[in-house]
Amino acid sequence: MPSASASGPVVVTGGAGAVGSALVRALLNRGVRVRVIDNLSSGRREHLPTPDGDRLSLVVADIKRPEQYGSALDGASAVWHLAANTDIRKGSDGPRLDLEEGTVASAILLEEMRRHDVPAIRYSSSSVVYGWAKTLPTPEEYGPLEPQSLYAASKLAVEGLVCAYAYSHGLRTHIFRFANIIGPGMTHGILYDFFEKLARDPTRLEVLGDGRQSKSYLRTEDCVDGMLLAADRAAGPVNTFNLGTRDRTSVRQIAEKVVAAHGGRARIEYTGGERGWAGDVPVQLLAIDRMERLGWTPRHSSDEAIDRTIAEIQTARAGSKPRA
Ligand SMILES: NC(=O)c1ccc[n+]([C@@H]2O[C@H](COP(=O)([O-])OP(=O)(O)OC[C@H]3O[C@@H](n4cnc5c(N)ncnc54)[C@H](O)[C@@H]3O)[C@@H](O)[C@H]2O)c1
Repeated sequence: MPSASASGPVVVTGGAGAVGSALVRALLNRGVRVRVIDNLSSGRREHLPTPDGDRLSLVVADIKRPEQYGSALDGASAVWHLAANTDIRKGSDGPRLDLEEGTVASAILLEEMRRHDVPAIRYSSSSVVYGWAKTLPTPEEYGPLEPQSLYAASKLAVEGLVCAYAYSHGLRTHIFRFANIIGPGMTHGILYDFFEKLARDPTRLEVLGDGRQSKSYLRTEDCVDGMLLAADRAAGPVNTFNLGTRDRTSVRQIAEKVVAAHGGRARIEYTGGERGWAGDVPVQLLAIDRMERLGWTPRHSSDEAIDRTIAEIQTARAGSKPRA
């Protein structure tokens, strides 16, 4: 079996997704060779640069099916593991979804990594592992961790698996607990949902909950910079980091900004209740001191991230409209 070296290629699962494809570009810019494994369930081939021999390859495969991708792990120096079901609400309708696409899929990947001697994993977890935390901003040491959705339960379960492989098999591990990540290429999330709703009916915008939910929104490029910096600088066996902004924004403010950007005609209708849906965590703000001590700080606040992403979505939608 070829042995992995620090200079070997890296594998990015979920690399055709919104965050994954931004990470792939950043890795390529650093001169790292990248192999993407993605089943294109929510990711898009066009999010990625054109595959280019040894520099970038795309294996269209399901991480639950190692026979489809095992050779992509040969000689790899690390796996950035981002593949997962990313539609949180879908998980409450189909309870096996997060179990299979998150927990089981990650367990299969970890075992395949062990078989191929891949020495390191970087995992995209989420702030949802904290549940509705009583301490804000919430530090990495906060507990007890009480996930409130099956998606969150799966993120926490995978953190557990990754830690177990770190201590039982020497896998070097970075765990990143993301706030809400926004930027180009999103196929889910609040801004995507609001623009989709307005495209269907420009006269009204239905908002789930009472609009007072308040969370932190981090730009994709800030998230990617943080992950790369932590992977470079944090060298313990298990390195867990929150990635978010120091501020938060309410759903009401976001709805008003989207409606204004859409011409200001739509009526905003709240469905009511403090949560957007069963399992939603209405208030979220991460402590980012640990990342700041490493030398990272987000370049955009939540509001700046939202404004910039709204402007990008508007431009993209204007460009894709058929000419009259
Ligand atoms: N975007 C956020 O706000 C946010 C917040 C917290 C955590 N995360 C985590 O970050 C990661 C990336 O999220 P994203 O926003 O880029 O979502 P995304 O849906 O754009 O990306 C997920 C990618 O994984 C792929 N995928 C899903 N199941 C797969 C499987 N079984 N085998 C192979 N590929 C599979 C999809 O096709 C997609 O390309 C996910 O793990 C997500 O849970 C995202």
